Amino acid sequence: MATDTAPLLNLLNHYHQRLENLFLCQQEALVEQRFELASQLLTHYQALLSAHIELENSLLLPLHEKVEKPRWASSLYKREHERILTLLSRAKEKLNAAQLEEGRSPRRLVIELLDYQRTLKGVLEHHEQREEQGLAPELSTMLEGSEQSKLAAQLGAAWQQYFAERQDTLNALLTQLDLDCRSYTTKL
Ligand SMILES: [Fe+2]
Ligand SMILES: [Fe+2]
Repeated sequence: MATDTAPLLNLLNHYHQRLENLFLCQQEALVEQRFELASQLLTHYQALLSAHIELENSLLLPLHEKVEKPRWASSLYKREHERILTLLSRAKEKLNAAQLEEGRSPRRLVIELLDYQRTLKGVLEHHEQREEQGLAPELSTMLEGSEQSKLAAQLGAAWQQYFAERQDTLNALLTQLDLDCRSYTTKL
């Protein structure tokens, strides 16, 4: 990431993209009917997204509560976080249950699972837009430049650490997918 005038916004955007890439890799595994691989990728995604949300809840939202007249209230982000985590664990359960089903057409199963994940994708997309259009710029306006950089560095270091801990395992899983997906690892 380049040094920038909007460190918080760029940081959020960067990690939203990395998370989305990982989710899409999981969907690519589904398209290939590799349910076990998709399930492992979704488990990593769940851990990384939970860590992402946990830090937003503990570091960003308490500060955001002090913003006067925010575009979207801090409580809305919090509620969306809960909804996202619930939808994600349901998607995970659905995928695990699908693996155990016998006699079903794998192609129909894939369609069903991808359809099921659409709500989660939609909620996430809107939520991340809100964070990038509301939360991050509002915090940037409220905080001093150095305070903002310090906060972004603290968040960035923690998120990077979570990805770094899983990097080798993720790379090993992703190499099981095709070349197109492997190119995502540069972003992961
Ligand atoms: Fe969030
Ligand atoms: Fe976020």
